[in-house]
Amino acid sequence: MKYNFDEIVPRHGTDCAKYDSIAARGRPADTLPLWVADMDFRCPPEVSARLVELARDGVFGYPDPGDKYFQAVRNWLAGRFGYEPEPEWLIRTPGVVFAVAAAIRALTGPGDAVLIQEPVYHPFAHLINNNGRQMVNNPLVCENGRYRMDFEDFEKKIIDRRVKMFILCSPHNPVGRVWKREELAKVAEICLRHQCLVVSDEIHCDFVRPGHRHLVLPTVAPELGASAVICTAPSKTFNLAGLQAANIFIADTDLRGKFQAAMGRAGYHSLNNMGLAACQAAYEHGADWLEQLKTYLEGNLEYLKGALAGLPGLKIVEPEGSYLIWLDFRELGLNPGDLEELISRRARLWLDEGPKFGLGGQGFYRLNSACPRALLREALERLKAVWPR
Ligand SMILES: Cc1ncc(COP(=O)(O)O)c(C=O)c1O
Repeated sequence: MKYNFDEIVPRHGTDCAKYDSIAARGRPADTLPLWVADMDFRCPPEVSARLVELARDGVFGYPDPGDKYFQAVRNWLAGRFGYEPEPEWLIRTPGVVFAVAAAIRALTGPGDAVLIQEPVYHPFAHLINNNGRQMVNNPLVCENGRYRMDFEDFEKKIIDRRVKMFILCSPHNPVGRVWKREELAKVAEICLRHQCLVVSDEIHCDFVRPGHRHLVLPTVAPELGASAVICTAPSKTFNLAGLQAANIFIADTDLRGKFQAAMGRAGYHSLNNMGLAACQAAYEHGADWLEQLKTYLEGNLEYLKGALAGLPGLKIVEPEGSYLIWLDFRELGLNPGDLEELISRRARLWLDEGPKFGLGGQGFYRLNSACPRALLREALERLKAVWPR
């Protein structure tokens, strides 16, 4: 391997949320953090080199990214997913969460219903509630360890609750589903029938496992895609979350205008120079790094699955995409307090507790497997040492 993903990158004391909030959260000092979705790997060297070059230049005036930026993003999306956005569809935001919030504020009204599918990335519910909209849940159904959408309930809720917007998580965090063509087509059919706008959060699109394929929503459903908000970002893919750069596509002129007006009202007009440069460099030069990373992450998953044999009662929800692993502890039969004690206090692991992701999360924890294998091994050894069976 050209890149060394086994390298333990020191992160304690670097003012990072993943490691440096351990004490503030009252967790044991030697806690191993496998929670928030950032990776314990350095980003592609070409990205760092570009940032060093910029820093050396030392001029950080207002940026105005040109065609090369757009082409880098478009080539990535077109080459991998066959999605070919036009330049004017692109709106840059300081993150996908920001974009989801802007979409809610710009494209729905106070009190409107916005639908999500729990368990799902927790900021969705907060954004809906904090912006004075009503959250409607169409829970995912788990059958034999695999999740699916309940379309009957989906359509019924859209009708009964007059849902204005659906926030789709594709691929889905935390359950790891990569939605199939038929599933996305069904979503499109229902949403079009009831004029429900779709915000498609596709931030995990680059982490799709062998045998699965990520489909950008408009490539499956062009009609719906024309009025959808497609959210992409290099941040998960290349570990650049702190640089705050996301690329949002809205083909419909009217909706795009409303979205831009909402950004204008918030006083936001441009990404920062570093985020822009990193995004462009990553999409231009990061393909090889990403392929090797994905191979490494497959190895981590294999290791994790093997280690589960020593932990009876713990099951993994087979991920189709993403490095975030949804672990099912329910068979252990512990109450939530005892389970939390086992994981956070005795094993000294920081995983994201399932209920954070809403209904259906009880008894689950989400583990971030994007770390050097030695850390993953340490985590599983800690768990094994305190395992109650
Ligand atoms: C589904 C999903 N959307 C959005 C984000 C965060 O995006 P950003 O940092 O660009 O706001 C995450 C981070 O884990 C995520 O999992």
